[in-house]
Amino acid sequence: MFKSKSATAYFQSLVLLISTILIFSCSSAELVPMDLKKVPLIPTPVSATATGESFEITDKTVIFTSGDFLSIEQFAQEARNVTGHPLEISPMISSPSNGNMYFQIAEIENKDSEAYELEVSNNNLVLKANTEQGLFYGIQTIRQLMPASIESGRLSKEIVYLASGKIIDSPRFEYRGAMLDVSRHFFGVDVIKRYIDYISSYKMNKLHLHLSDDQGWRIEIKSWPKLTEVGGLTQVGGGEGGFYTQEDYKEIVRYAQSKFVTIVPEIDMPGHTNAALVAYPELNCNKKDPNPKAYSGIEVGFSTLCTRNPEVYNFLDDVIKELAAMTPGEYIHIGGDESHVTEKEDYIYFINKVQKIVSKYGKKVMGWDDISAATLETGSAVQHWAKKENAIKAVAQNAKVLMTPATRTYLDMQYDSTTPLGLHWAAYIELDSAYIWDPATQIDGISESQIIGVEAALWSETIDNLNEIEYMAFPRLIGHAEIGWSPQKGRSWDEYKFRLAKHEERLVEMGIDYYRSALVPRNANDGLQLNNP
Ligand code: ACM
Repeated sequence: MFKSKSATAYFQSLVLLISTILIFSCSSAELVPMDLKKVPLIPTPVSATATGESFEITDKTVIFTSGDFLSIEQFAQEARNVTGHPLEISPMISSPSNGNMYFQIAEIENKDSEAYELEVSNNNLVLKANTEQGLFYGIQTIRQLMPASIESGRLSKEIVYLASGKIIDSPRFEYRGAMLDVSRHFFGVDVIKRYIDYISSYKMNKLHLHLSDDQGWRIEIKSWPKLTEVGGLTQVGGGEGGFYTQEDYKEIVRYAQSKFVTIVPEIDMPGHTNAALVAYPELNCNKKDPNPKAYSGIEVGFSTLCTRNPEVYNFLDDVIKELAAMTPGEYIHIGGDESHVTEKEDYIYFINKVQKIVSKYGKKVMGWDDISAATLETGSAVQHWAKKENAIKAVAQNAKVLMTPATRTYLDMQYDSTTPLGLHWAAYIELDSAYIWDPATQIDGISESQIIGVEAALWSETIDNLNEIEYMAFPRLIGHAEIGWSPQKGRSWDEYKFRLAKHEERLVEMGIDYYRSALVPRNANDGLQLNNP
């Protein structure tokens, strides 16, 4: 069809005008967030009531606090970066004035040590919690009420407003964990710290480190130095491996504590021990593999400690003694999975003896659910990953269960058959499948009160750097954080997918190269509406 030059120019200016109006009206709606129910919070809070206004952070805003808290200092610095305002920190005053933010340890209605209450009005912002940990979680929520650029530290070009309303919040489960396998591939202290930043900002409070396996021993044990000098030198694919010195480990523990994350260290045994056996062959008596060599493949179930050799228990006494002394958390994880070449009665004998050593050093036992074959010590917890009957056997012995079903929570499982990393022996796990499950109905006969929480596990046979960790973990990890924190009632994929879609801009600001699932709607604003009361 013929178009005159002037008609084309007219048409082009019209398009320009309409798009300018559209961009202006959309961005101004976004710039002054007025509806708390449309803020894509993850994990979603127990209750959020919108009041239709907004709080403006100005160059006069002061952060008043009832104590000297690192998390408030860190938040203030992030907020300064994003707003460009000085945001001075000042001791709490008795008569609050308008325009300020108040962070206060105070008794709130919910006595849970992790609970918080947040009230935002057009006058001020007030966060209250029973403990510093509760304040920390409230701060994570406030961060998500701020522009996404708080994640990168970029100055916002616009005035910063927070949607007004009241949030009352506390966790569903006490244990909200993530596991990193640092044995199949080794990750340095900086990577671990970065993962701690990620998980803690989604209110997760445990990092389980899988510190030993067939391919590498990753924690220095001073009384058995060859564990790391020899057993730490390898990894899957033949790379050079690595290990944490005791100082490194203590640094990880300290950093985690500053973000209210407890480290749960795992020494996997009696199977998955090839690296230890290469370092100390006297701990081996496996007739099928009398001369263990460094292993860089990904098969499982071929190694075992010599369960009837008393020297093995001297060894484990030293290992657990040194590990327990550096670990403030209550659990030592003893693994116990896939010991296919250990005779059943030897396995039971072994697990029973190792539990006594863990108790002797003042810690509780955690193990993969396979350990329910043994007689579990009081206070033990089993980590359910595969066989439901194992978890049922554990609760019959009054143990608690940590839910890590491989078909839902294994972050190394591929999203679909085209995923370039990962494995799929348990399942392909798309985002909906990772999200649509309830820990309390996962196993018939195991109810909410028998479950301590949820853990998302990232095995590293195919993963050897932070980018790859991020691609497999995100965004499934944050869905698991929500399953651990938020009430089951009201949780639905059809609501979550819109929230996740909008929330993804934060992952971009964090610099995370996450998996872009086709299941996440790209026109997120259309359906975004929090479900909570
Ligand atoms: C496991 O996946 N072997 C616990």
